[in-house]
Amino acid sequence: MAKKITLLGSTGSIGTQSLDVIRAQKYEVFGLSANSRVELLQKQIAEFHPKYVCVVDPTAYDTLSAALAGTAGAPKLLKGQEGLKTLAALDGADVVLNSVVGIAGLGASLAAIESGHDLALANKESLVTGGHLVTEAVKAHGVKLLPVDSEHSAIFQCLQDRESAKSLTKILLTASGGPFFGMTKEQLATKKKEDALKHPNWHMGAKITIDSATLMNKGLELIEAVWLFGLPPEKIQIVVQRQSILHSAVQFSDNSVIAQMGVPDMRIPIQYALTWPKRVPGVVPELDFAKLKEMTFDVADEETFRCLAACKKAIAKGGLGPCAANGANEEAVKLFLQDEIGFLDIGRLVEAMVDSDSFGGSYTLADVYECDRMARAFVHAHL
Ligand SMILES: NC(=O)c1ccc[n+]([C@@H]2O[C@H](COP(=O)([O-])OP(=O)(O)OC[C@H]3O[C@@H](n4cnc5c(N)ncnc54)[C@H](OP(=O)(O)O)[C@@H]3O)[C@@H](O)[C@H]2O)c1
Repeated sequence: MAKKITLLGSTGSIGTQSLDVIRAQKYEVFGLSANSRVELLQKQIAEFHPKYVCVVDPTAYDTLSAALAGTAGAPKLLKGQEGLKTLAALDGADVVLNSVVGIAGLGASLAAIESGHDLALANKESLVTGGHLVTEAVKAHGVKLLPVDSEHSAIFQCLQDRESAKSLTKILLTASGGPFFGMTKEQLATKKKEDALKHPNWHMGAKITIDSATLMNKGLELIEAVWLFGLPPEKIQIVVQRQSILHSAVQFSDNSVIAQMGVPDMRIPIQYALTWPKRVPGVVPELDFAKLKEMTFDVADEETFRCLAACKKAIAKGGLGPCAANGANEEAVKLFLQDEIGFLDIGRLVEAMVDSDSFGGSYTLADVYECDRMARAFVHAHL
């Protein structure tokens, strides 16, 4: 029986690469979702014949609904954030892959888990904003949380030997350093979105590409790693690996280090999340060590890239600290992409948000959304 997948965020960078894997593995698509890119979604419907499709943006929903009217075998359509949660919870999928961008993915992650689905998670913001709620729900419902982020997949792969995993002492979380590695604050001050959107190794959605340039992405991944692997942040070392060949590593009590390597192609971690615990041949070419001239390692510059420093402060504060950092960042990145603020303003605003409160203590889902709203308002009040 072919595995059945519900893919949230199917029109994005991870979404389209997930469909490459699904096509190659001859899996069935149970559900698809997008925000507004209806044309691409229609092509995906024609190829993969999902039973359910959700469109979050109401105008885009109406466009798709009109386009599919009267089409034989058309999927059942769902609408908005509520529709996304309904889709994530529907019986019929073996696994839900969440590749929505931003906190918009949190509700669907929780809905998938609470309805008993294993969750392949690319949407790191689910763990960053609601890590406590997501991990508690995973425990309560006995489902599997499968990391899709390349670094977290690498760590997960390195920890498959359960006996060794018990003596994990350190995680080495790698970072490419992004397009501005080695630059000074003076150089960064004039950078525009066109510069920041040119990532040296990965072709990704706009938001995560900006996050890579500011090193916010590494801060978000540090928070994600704390939730996924249970080590305190001081036991997770960020290592700049410019070529993005070594995707992360773990160190054990005997100081032995095990790393996962491969070409920089997200279809390896996506596929592993879908085939776990098995490995099967896939669509990604092998790493050619004869052509790989060098692998370099460096230190991340937190003094210049304040988003990373802000995320570390946010984890130390705990509670809603990471959610506040994420909300401020999502809003600041949106403004940067609209040419309304400068590159260095992103780090300034995220850090100011984190510094503005203690954030500690436990929280509910309503608290998460209120904190996110407050962080976005904070950004507008401090431009
Ligand atoms: N790209 C990568 O290589 C990579 C690597 C590791 C982790 N990740 C993580 O994976 C997630 C997705 O990244 P991406 O680069 O694939 O992003 P992306 O290319 O921007 O795609 C985002 C997807 O989410 C949908 N979406 C956007 N806003 C939404 C909303 N408000 N509600 C529901 N759906 C919405 C988009 O629909 P439309 O197309 O209709 O706008 C699209 O399908 C992020 O959390 C990112 O950090 C990405």
